[in-house]
Amino acid sequence: MSEKFIPIVDHRVNHRDSHRQHARLSIPAILEQPNGQVVDTFGRSLNDLRISVTDRCNFRCVYCMPKEVFDKNYLFLPQTSLLSFEEITRIAKIFVAHGVSKLRLTGGEPLLRKNIEKLVEMLRGLRTHDGQELDITLTTNGSLLARKAQSLKDAGLTRVTVSLDSLNEATFRQMNDVDFPVSDVLEGIDAAHQAGLGPIKVNMVVKAGLNDQEIVPMARYFQNSPHILRFIEYMDVGSSNGWRLDDIIPSSEIRQRLNDAGMSLLPIAANYASETAERWRYADDSGEIGFISSVTNSFCHDCSRARLSTEGKLYTCLFATEGHDLRALLRDQQSAHSDIAISSVVAQLWRARSDRYSELRSQNTVELSAPRKKIEMSYIGG
Ligand code: GTP
Ligand code: 5AD
Ligand code: SF4
Ligand code: SF4
Repeated sequence: MSEKFIPIVDHRVNHRDSHRQHARLSIPAILEQPNGQVVDTFGRSLNDLRISVTDRCNFRCVYCMPKEVFDKNYLFLPQTSLLSFEEITRIAKIFVAHGVSKLRLTGGEPLLRKNIEKLVEMLRGLRTHDGQELDITLTTNGSLLARKAQSLKDAGLTRVTVSLDSLNEATFRQMNDVDFPVSDVLEGIDAAHQAGLGPIKVNMVVKAGLNDQEIVPMARYFQNSPHILRFIEYMDVGSSNGWRLDDIIPSSEIRQRLNDAGMSLLPIAANYASETAERWRYADDSGEIGFISSVTNSFCHDCSRARLSTEGKLYTCLFATEGHDLRALLRDQQSAHSDIAISSVVAQLWRARSDRYSELRSQNTVELSAPRKKIEMSYIGG
């Protein structure tokens, strides 16, 4: 009698890549000690690791987790799939040894992950190759920030970035699609500022026809404040937001609108080479403002960002279609891989990296309408 096979099929909804068979990563024959520097095929170093700590969110922003897709039938990752804090810290340590000096906790909504402060505390103990403390940051929708700002600061978080797409109550509620009020996010920003988590960056994704009328009010509100507002061109990230080129308002047009409203701006130098935002300041010295132009002025040439998904897959680009399963190496009971073995795998993956999606998109060399299965931002992190 032939053996009975019970096929193991992942029945979860098809919006992540968890259902795919991933090639198992293999450990290189010759292991190498990390030396704080690894470069990809374009000479880009590895400086920034974004860690998604949950694929869940209490918002349903129309451009990120549309309700029709992320509904009650959507199967989020089970607890056992998530990397534990020990696993995250182990991977982060390996990346830091390769030159990472900034960690960003993301999600989904990272403040939904239980005891997130504990993770911050664990990461706080890491040091760069030359003994420096890390920049540990977090991107949040602000809904739980008023409650958590002080404990995050005490745990060792350096600063926060808060997403806020409108000051207008009706527009904001329409965008987060869960009826969440603006005032709670503003309270979160204040609490973070009081706790010393500044300078706080406020990210506003601009979608034409939805919140572009909020550009000028948002700029006015954050002018003369210590916070840095950044306008983000709506991107074609993921496969569920139905993105069209017509949905974006180019940064140049936003600057024009601000200028027309009497806010004249002057460019200022970048803080660091791989910075996402173009930095500007008000000509009357009333603060800084930024533009993230991933569609009209892509910034792939210096991109030093790696992303670790909630379940431990490494993505070398926000628009990647495949991740590399580091969790399988961490949890391999038979081989019990050493840090140096996993570190050698990471070095190999980064050296092979050739991603530059936004640049190719701008050159129209990727077909925008192609049924390419990209990863959702809520899974991979922003
Ligand atoms: P700082 O450390 O404060 O400079 O933060 P950051 O600008 O690197 O990070 P943040 O997460 O605030 O990024 C802002 C936005 O830029 C994100 O929400 C994305 O919309 C976009 N973004 C971030 N990283 C990338 C990237 O690697 N590629 C593209 N195309 N967009 C990105
Ligand atoms: N385009 C641009 N930014 C996006 N974000 C989420 N989805 C998109 C998109 N399609 C941003 C959020 C937040 C961060 C996590 O990513 O506004 O600031
Ligand atoms: Fe949640 Fe942020 Fe996505 Fe909005 S953009 S649904 S707050 S993860
Ligand atoms: Fe980096 Fe990919 Fe974004 Fe380009 S598109 S900046 S390579 S993450």
